Amino acid sequence: MNKKTKNLELLNSDLKKTKNWFIDHLQKLESTVHIYTHLDADGLSAGAILGKALYRDKIPFQITVLKQLEREEIIKIAENSKDSKKFLIFADFGSGQYLELTEKLNNLDNNVPFIILDHHLPQNVSDKNDSKIKEIYSNSRPWHINPYFYEFDGSGEISGAGMCYFFVKSLNQKNFDLSPIALVGATGDVQCRGPNNSFIGLNAVILEHATKADLLEVSNDLNFSSIKPLNEAISYSSEITLPGLSDNTSKMLKFLKSLGILMETSQGDIKTLNDLNQEEKQKVSSAIIEYMSLKLDIEPSEIIEKLIVSKYVLKNEIVGSQLHDLNDFAYLLNSCGRSDNASLGIAIAMGDRKIAYNKAKDHLLNYKKSLGQALSWLKDENKIQYKNNIQYFFGENVIFENIVGTIASMLIFSKSGIIDINKPIFGCAKRKDEEVFKISGRAHKDIVEKGVNLSEAIREALELSNLEALGGGHPPAAGTKVPINKIDVFLENCDSVIEKQLREN
Ligand code: C5P
Ligand code: ZN
Repeated sequence: MNKKTKNLELLNSDLKKTKNWFIDHLQKLESTVHIYTHLDADGLSAGAILGKALYRDKIPFQITVLKQLEREEIIKIAENSKDSKKFLIFADFGSGQYLELTEKLNNLDNNVPFIILDHHLPQNVSDKNDSKIKEIYSNSRPWHINPYFYEFDGSGEISGAGMCYFFVKSLNQKNFDLSPIALVGATGDVQCRGPNNSFIGLNAVILEHATKADLLEVSNDLNFSSIKPLNEAISYSSEITLPGLSDNTSKMLKFLKSLGILMETSQGDIKTLNDLNQEEKQKVSSAIIEYMSLKLDIEPSEIIEKLIVSKYVLKNEIVGSQLHDLNDFAYLLNSCGRSDNASLGIAIAMGDRKIAYNKAKDHLLNYKKSLGQALSWLKDENKIQYKNNIQYFFGENVIFENIVGTIASMLIFSKSGIIDINKPIFGCAKRKDEEVFKISGRAHKDIVEKGVNLSEAIREALELSNLEALGGGHPPAAGTKVPINKIDVFLENCDSVIEKQLREN
């Protein structure tokens, strides 16, 4: 048996113990379940998976969505749960706060049972090779499930929704039908990181469940949105650049028409990728390869690697809807979470295709507009500031806490050209009614491979700045909050920690 299979078996056997512990407590205490989850696409998928599974087993539950499990939230949760006969589940967060959770929920005057189903680096763990992982694993069974205990990488190989999926599968095998939602969560956390955007690690195991159950289909396709007008989809692609055509939708439309493709549908709309037949797709891909290799002097094999990727579509969803392609589904959930409509996102991921879905689609337009405006503002007003090893921006009155992480991700992971992708970016947005900045750090995979670890950097910079806030996440994406009067020293410390990380690796 190879190591991966062995580790998966260990995870499954631990999950059974976690399940028994969970069921025993529910029966003994006659308690209901309170799920706390994160507001991004992964967190909403995680909440929906748990909700559907508990509903299926007739276990009463409620779900609360939080922007982050900060120390103040944990104190509130501990107070609210006291004497309440509740069993708590922390999904898509909790590992980075597991010491606070035990301290506040399990002490002399409070004993609230809980489990953590998370994929973030645990508190005090710097990276996946940290020797403390084993110790935490043995001290926190059966209530803490985290992929790093089983040598799986929580940053790229499994999401929070995925961990919840494995848990609910151990509750009831029927929950295999929630596998697609686990992959929506993974997509939201940008985990299609294998060759051709494939899923790897535990996500690949979930993919197998979903395809075997005939719920999901994988195919090779052009790396553009399937549902946007094609000229827009190509123009605004985050990975494919066609000098002179990208960012200019009318020129792009002319280019497509020049290939002899009829670009209007019978209703008069511009065709999407979904509307093209195989021959037309072939024409588009050959033309793009030729154009890019001529203009940018790139080898065709390199272009093909970016241009043709695995596409994952949900077989039970309507073709052309916002839920058919995993990328669009995750985008919709993210927009719900980030526009104060988390409950719509959870309802959609639990199966609502009417009221919640339609409302969410309405909000999506505004959400997209606010992201576009924020990016233009950063660019036009030269809002990016630089230190030797990092770059940063302040959201001022334009980029608020709810979208600062998404904007930082767009800057680093897409070819916006607004920032230098060789340095991590830190977005700072002042929190409403509080004298603190919410910080979102993002780093491109190329510098993560060179040793940059933002989870560790943020924790170290907090410590060097004498700040007590909780912080962390993953090597390429991490966050925290910092008092306004400490922001300069915090960013200065981030700069020197990143310098050290690059020097030592
Ligand atoms: O908030 P933001 O999107 O910037 O967070 C990036 C990543 O870091 C997310 O996965 C988030 O859950 C994680 N994070 C964390 N602890 C914090 C803040 C963020 O684990 N205090
Ligand atoms: Zn996550």
